[in-house]
Amino acid sequence: MCGIVAYIGHREAYPILIKGLHRLEYRGYDSAGIALIDDNEINVYKTKGKVRDLEHFTESKNINGKIGIAHTRWATHGEPNNANAHPHYSETASLALVHNGIIENYTLLKKALQEHGYNFKSDTDTEVLVQLIEYIKTSNNCSLFEAVQSALKQVIGAYAIAVIDKNNKEEIVAARKSSPLVVGLGKEEYFVASDVTPIIEYTNKVVYLNDEEVVLLRPKEQINIVNLNNTITKVDVKSLNMSISQLEKGGYPHFMLKEINEQPKTIIDCIRGRINVEATNVILSGVIDHKDKILNAGRIIIVACGTSWHAALIGKHLIEEFCKIPVEVEYASEFRYRNPVINKGDLMIAISQSGETADTLAAVQLGKEKGAFIYGICNVVGSSIPRATHTGTYIHVGPEIGVASTKAFTGQVTVLTMLAMTIAKEKKSIAKERFLSILKSLKSLPELMEEVLMLDERIKDLSKIFTYAHNFLYLGRGYNYPLALEGALKLKEISYIHAEGYPAAEMKHGPIALIDNEMPTFVIATTDSIYEKTVSNIQEIKARGGKVIALVTKGDKIVSSMADFSLEIPDVDECLSPVVACIPLQLFAYHIAINKGRNVDQPRNLAKSVTVE
Ligand code: AGP
Ligand code: GLU
Repeated sequence: MCGIVAYIGHREAYPILIKGLHRLEYRGYDSAGIALIDDNEINVYKTKGKVRDLEHFTESKNINGKIGIAHTRWATHGEPNNANAHPHYSETASLALVHNGIIENYTLLKKALQEHGYNFKSDTDTEVLVQLIEYIKTSNNCSLFEAVQSALKQVIGAYAIAVIDKNNKEEIVAARKSSPLVVGLGKEEYFVASDVTPIIEYTNKVVYLNDEEVVLLRPKEQINIVNLNNTITKVDVKSLNMSISQLEKGGYPHFMLKEINEQPKTIIDCIRGRINVEATNVILSGVIDHKDKILNAGRIIIVACGTSWHAALIGKHLIEEFCKIPVEVEYASEFRYRNPVINKGDLMIAISQSGETADTLAAVQLGKEKGAFIYGICNVVGSSIPRATHTGTYIHVGPEIGVASTKAFTGQVTVLTMLAMTIAKEKKSIAKERFLSILKSLKSLPELMEEVLMLDERIKDLSKIFTYAHNFLYLGRGYNYPLALEGALKLKEISYIHAEGYPAAEMKHGPIALIDNEMPTFVIATTDSIYEKTVSNIQEIKARGGKVIALVTKGDKIVSSMADFSLEIPDVDECLSPVVACIPLQLFAYHIAINKGRNVDQPRNLAKSVTVE
């Protein structure tokens, strides 16, 4: 998920690799490492922390070598520490490899390799790959290139890799599937990277690898690309016409915009290996491994803060509807101080992007002391909350750097849906057709999200009309009520406009007094089971001169004719509507904040990870 850089040619590799890692820093990471071949030895240096920590670590070391690979890691398997950082060595230390992605069948492969006497020094899925390549290379007496091809045929999952062999400092082998990899073509030199930012300074000729392609790079030879079945691929060299400044943050002006746009891809990462290809089954190992505790829970308590708390409200809806288990959602900060009743046999779910939020962590500790079984739903691997829980599921959406949470929210709701489906299937509390249709909808999310992202220009125009509003009301019902809260939170945290989210029907119990032509309302009015009721709520606003922006399902006529502005989103199962409908809300907040000249990535007074009470 993070960054790879590799170099082979006539220059010293170290400065190119380190500079390249810095260029990839915008992707976020938890550790970094480098491997260089000098005098038929591979020198591997790696450390937890930033690229500058790696530079510091290598200060008095041998950093010579005209071939090398480097990596910034975003942990998916095994906590971020020195041993788990990449590059990883093979058993005899003759091969070194960097990898971005996830090897889903690593447990099986690891077991088989252990039976052949291979020892493992890390908890990563990656180490399995370098060991497997060495195993194939020695037992078949074949080239590194052939061994990589053959190993990758056995691998299920996503990868971008670069491998070097200490006995052959004249070649690098690289490959990709689902994780990006680009090769830069210089004069008797090659560059490899996760994106073009580390390459652009040296050459504008690049080749983007396609899925399941393996490339052999020898400085004095032409680039050679084949697929896993050994069919030679036509090399398609592209000329880049970009400046380095354009490439920061992956080409986006802000992390938040980059993260909003990444969502179709992060949802694929989130469901990968959990829902099968045919969309007929879902398996969350966190549930299956602790079936008794989870299926027999008398009650579920979800603790979280901020955006994660909004995801929790959607989780309550999902679990109560499909699993028939009562769910309470608590602000972690309140829960920890009010002497709550927790019974043995209660299941507590803690949701946190960072895994470090102090209040959520304290709530987890309290739950544990009182005998609850604790399930974590987090993004940052190896962070404090996953370490403190009994089991859990990572959302795997990659580093979220913008302070306003976007892709973590959609990842959390997606995991909560998969969790509800896994429990419901085990408990037989859901009809088969409904189960299958939700799984199908989950699989279709990335496509629908792509479609919604195309509303960007229209939302940008709309944002100009509302930039100077002082207050905003967000309304939604059912699954979309928590989304109204999330839309309001996004707007207030990055634009500093006061905004409130309400269940649409609650409006008449108070907030309606605020409605006039200066108090706009954003209504999530997709066609769901309580659509008619939402229509009445909109009429109430219009009758009082309020301006309405409505988010409607494609083809909607009724709400669109009443609202001042409407945004159409594709139809999706009601329970997954928040995952698709949140994108226009994120974009709306983003554009208003930009119009107001706010620092969207680091809004005033906020921190990404709230590790204090
Ligand atoms: C959301 O945009 C926030 N900045 C904030 O509310 C955040 O969701 C909250 O602090 C919880 O963080 P966590 O998910 O890392 O625990
Ligand atoms: N799955 C690998 C690991 O956890 C690679 C992670 C990455 O893409 O940085 O080490």
